Amino acid sequence: VTEIGFIGGGKMAEALLKGIHGKGFAFGPELRVSKIFVSEINKARLQYLKKDPNIAILDKKELLQFYDNKQVAKLSEVVILAVKPQDIPKVVEEIEIDKGKLVISIAAGISLNYLQRSLPGAAVIRAMPNNPALVSAGITSLAQGNNVTQKQLDLAKRLFESVGEVIVVEEKLMDAVTGLSGSGPAYVYLMIEALTKAGEELQLSEKQAKTLAIETVLGAAKTAKETGKPAKELREMVTSPGGTTMEGLKVLNERKFSEALIEAVKAAAAKSKKLSQ
Ligand SMILES: NC(=O)c1ccc[n+]([C@@H]2O[C@H](COP(=O)([O-])OP(=O)(O)OC[C@H]3O[C@@H](n4cnc5c(N)ncnc54)[C@H](OP(=O)(O)O)[C@@H]3O)[C@@H](O)[C@H]2O)c1
Repeated sequence: VTEIGFIGGGKMAEALLKGIHGKGFAFGPELRVSKIFVSEINKARLQYLKKDPNIAILDKKELLQFYDNKQVAKLSEVVILAVKPQDIPKVVEEIEIDKGKLVISIAAGISLNYLQRSLPGAAVIRAMPNNPALVSAGITSLAQGNNVTQKQLDLAKRLFESVGEVIVVEEKLMDAVTGLSGSGPAYVYLMIEALTKAGEELQLSEKQAKTLAIETVLGAAKTAKETGKPAKELREMVTSPGGTTMEGLKVLNERKFSEALIEAVKAAAAKSKKLSQ
């Protein structure tokens, strides 16, 4: 039985709250969340959270929301730092963490080293979720600090599994993760925008084009996931010689579509590295 405390009740904290609620407060027989605390500085945001129908159904005994970071850090067995990266220094200065207590930071670019130095004795995990966590279709990468126990890592995994999939990586790969899955949804949204525009230019209505674009992206991702087949094999499956797909791919190759995506991920990863320094 565990108390979880969020410091910062923004979009990502809200997604996790919904995820925990969706799991019925239980992550397996031996792990139950007994209470959730949310400390949020922004009054309007606090009011919004209290009114959110998905969150308001939580019993007042199960969910307590107020603004007192120190208190939340003290009362919770697991503390989740869910403020913007620039607000992290103020928060770590303010709170005290008992020796061995699990702190999970979702702040992009804030290193384990920094967190361990600022919160001596804490067991720290860095998490990089992504935007689709808001609809429980996220992918979160976790990197653990040196004194994290297996039990604590399992807890973090199960927590983020409530909003999607989870992988564990070495911290040095966090910039790559940020460039790929962190920023990646934006590349896919751009693709949906472009596919929709193409459909409209070919006389489909906006609604029709948008539906076709979204379902195509979703369906292709689902096929790759559920069949487990390499994307290359699936691509070849839909590309018959001399057919329509081949004509489309020819243009993408001429315009260096793959190279552009690869460069985009690398540029985002490089920016992530620079920002975290
Ligand atoms: N959203 C994503 O897709 C995503 C993906 C990966 C990682 N992350 C990381 O997740 C973290 C949170 O992101 P988010 O999108 O949830 O941001 P957000 O919506 O801005 O949430 C942060 C909340 O914390 C509040 N806050 C600021 N300072 C505080 C303090 N000292 N004590 C308590 N609360 C405080 C903010 O209030 P104010 O608005 O008044 O400042 C805001 O309501 C960020 O560090 C980000 O890097 C987000």
